[in-house]
Amino acid sequence: AIAERIEAAVPVAEWPPEWFEVAANFRQPDKVLGSAWQSGAGLRAALRRGAEWLLDELQASGLRGRGGAGFPTALKWKYCRQTPGAHYVVCNADEGEPGTFKDRELLRHHADQLFEGMTLAALVTGARQGFLYLRGEYQWLLPQLEEALRRRRREGLVGRNICALADFHFDIDIVVGAGAYICGEESALLNSIEGVRPHPRNRPPYPVTCGLWGQPTVVNNVESFAAAALVAARGGAWFAEVGTEKSKGTKVLSVSGDCDRPGIYEVPLGITVAEVLDLCGAGDTLGVQVGGPSGTFVHPPEYGRRIAYEDLGTGGSFMVFGTGRDLIDIVHRFARFFAHESCGFCTPCRVGTQLQLRLLEKVRRGWATAGDIQELEQLRAILAASHCGLGHTAANPVQTTLARCPERYRKVLRDLEFSPGFDLDAALE
Ligand code: NAI
Ligand code: SF4
Repeated sequence: AIAERIEAAVPVAEWPPEWFEVAANFRQPDKVLGSAWQSGAGLRAALRRGAEWLLDELQASGLRGRGGAGFPTALKWKYCRQTPGAHYVVCNADEGEPGTFKDRELLRHHADQLFEGMTLAALVTGARQGFLYLRGEYQWLLPQLEEALRRRRREGLVGRNICALADFHFDIDIVVGAGAYICGEESALLNSIEGVRPHPRNRPPYPVTCGLWGQPTVVNNVESFAAAALVAARGGAWFAEVGTEKSKGTKVLSVSGDCDRPGIYEVPLGITVAEVLDLCGAGDTLGVQVGGPSGTFVHPPEYGRRIAYEDLGTGGSFMVFGTGRDLIDIVHRFARFFAHESCGFCTPCRVGTQLQLRLLEKVRRGWATAGDIQELEQLRAILAASHCGLGHTAANPVQTTLARCPERYRKVLRDLEFSPGFDLDAALE
């Protein structure tokens, strides 16, 4: 059944306009046309049947966080509901992972579905206020998102007395980020909304118990909220028809790089890397970076691996590299990204990412020694001691490529004997 659906998959970017009109949801085009998601329908169903029903449906759907880490959505909402306090709902739309642009398209074409998902989270948790944290570079989407919110207020789907109920009030404000990648880390994002410096907080406590202004907060990715709206409208069992045992539903991927048909794809979870490469028309490839720089470099012998939480979890980035690319160049760019985006709060990351960049610079120029490669390997341990996810994953590109393609590093390896007075620092500038 999955193979049939893969065949039916069409890049969202290539969908004819009527598909968008008929189907504001995430399924395969056949399901999209069959399901006709309607604004407000899932919300009304949840209001009729109650918050417990919605939690059961979310549980049955197997929906897991689409930001990349895959935490069960039903559990997150339930934990937040169980914690007393003034609850908040926050949508993380600070899509900053290089190679990831699927949330941008979801915000553009499916904002209603996202806002409905946030409203459902409010129904479950009792939150009265929500925030959409929009990536600074997506500021151009602000007018149309504000317009969607105004329309939903007029329709009684957000704001005061939702669906004419006397005691259901929930409104959403949009907060625009200022271009720092670290604000995509949920606790840094919460600090940013609070107006303080966006350093990541210690976790635990997780936001479900101690989030915005210390209150219980649901933080989910754009795609997770929109998928939750679909579960409310169509039921958990319907959602779980697609996918693997541990990864239910579909995943929206941002496919970029050396392929004939880059774009946004919706694929069933469990699809193999080879199948995605077929869909996007990739030719001979050096490898694929799944999950952005913090993810995994997959090389051809591993193309049977699956996009699923139990194998290759991803926030949605799928970067294809043709055989004409240089692996070291790719890894060097990723390292530069981490060194630039490190927030500087903790030493292992602030220093480790710079050291990693300098060592790769040497590798790239053919100046690296065996000792430099050893040092690169050891940096993994240093970065593992970092304070947040950025530091923990900053060594991934080097480590995964060193493990899979050591010959590429050996090729440039050269024992150098520096002449007295040779200024390495100046040479590396
Ligand atoms: P995490 O595994 O620490 O947490 C994931 C989510 O589950 C969070 O919302 C967290 O609050 C919640 N959670 C985890 N354990 C919990 C518990 N015991 N009780 C209650 N809630 C709990 O992952 P993290 O560090 O938040 O996110 C890392 C992921 O983000 C990576 O998979 C990475 O690939 C992805 N990522 C995505 C980006 C994007 O643009 N979409 C950018 C950068 C990273
Ligand atoms: Fe900042 Fe890096 Fe430390 Fe995270 S790991 S707090 S990004 S310095």
